[in-house]
Amino acid sequence: MNTVFVVGSLNIDQNVRVRSLPRSGETVSGTDATFSPGGKGANQAVAAARAGAAVEFMGAVGDDAHGRRILEILTQAGVDCSQVPVIEATPTGTAIIAVDDDGENLIIVSPGANSRLTEEDIDTFLSNVRSGDVLTLQLEIPSGLVRHAARQAKVRGALVVLNAAPAPAGIGGLFDDVDLLVVNEHEIQILAGLTGIPPADHRDLVRTLPELLGPRIVCTAGDEGAYTILDDALVHVPAPAVDATDTTGAGDTFIGYLAACLLAHPADLAGAMTLASRASALAVTRSGAMESIPWLHEVDPSLANPGSVIPS
Ligand code: RIB
Ligand code: NA
Repeated sequence: MNTVFVVGSLNIDQNVRVRSLPRSGETVSGTDATFSPGGKGANQAVAAARAGAAVEFMGAVGDDAHGRRILEILTQAGVDCSQVPVIEATPTGTAIIAVDDDGENLIIVSPGANSRLTEEDIDTFLSNVRSGDVLTLQLEIPSGLVRHAARQAKVRGALVVLNAAPAPAGIGGLFDDVDLLVVNEHEIQILAGLTGIPPADHRDLVRTLPELLGPRIVCTAGDEGAYTILDDALVHVPAPAVDATDTTGAGDTFIGYLAACLLAHPADLAGAMTLASRASALAVTRSGAMESIPWLHEVDPSLANPGSVIPS
């Protein structure tokens, strides 16, 4: 069976709701903090699994209760975490997340064990990758490891999807083995800046940046939906209108669903973006990151049996 492989981060999210996000130098009061599972890598793995794909995850946790709990939750979601290393004397990654009344967030990530993954861990993990598999990557682990993982999966014939989040500080070969780059409307501006081209509308950058960076780009733009270029034409997939509760995890839901759909139907990017947008809109209506990721049958009620069919 073909598989979505995910190499990336795993965090314990410390969430506080605030009326409005603090500006630099400002202190604001919030609600009591809650702890929930997260990390862009782990969230995307769960999203792909809830979309019905077979998923294997590689990331690193600390030898602590948070790490054990997140691995348990991932495993319950159907994600194979059997090769995840437990790092001594290093905490599991932590994200400090504030969410305001409009559902918008501000996130600070402290990487902890995420920065202790090694090339050897990745080599073992990806040794069984074959043509037809999908590898999904993000930038919450060291960028050298991301490049390495992309190369290992590429030489084995997998489709390599990189979510350039958080936005990188430099490009340096990061996209050499990437087939599909997924960014939001802020990250695409940062990438434009790194290539030295002037700021432009994200819909124009979806067309112009691939010539400079290499991979095809899918740009998500919140309630506007998502964009890509297919057959030289701009494709816009609108997002269903929803009342936003918490946008945390919405991007990860989109990417996990996108990976699962591309695993099932590699040639149908527009179809994958459509289902991913619907899943992501549902995640926005729910609190938390991983906890807000919907199952396939919630995204499309006609699919009563999650995992059975992804529509093309
Ligand atoms: O994309 C949302 C995620 O970003 C959160 O779960 C948090 O852990 C940070 O990695
Ligand atoms: Na959410």
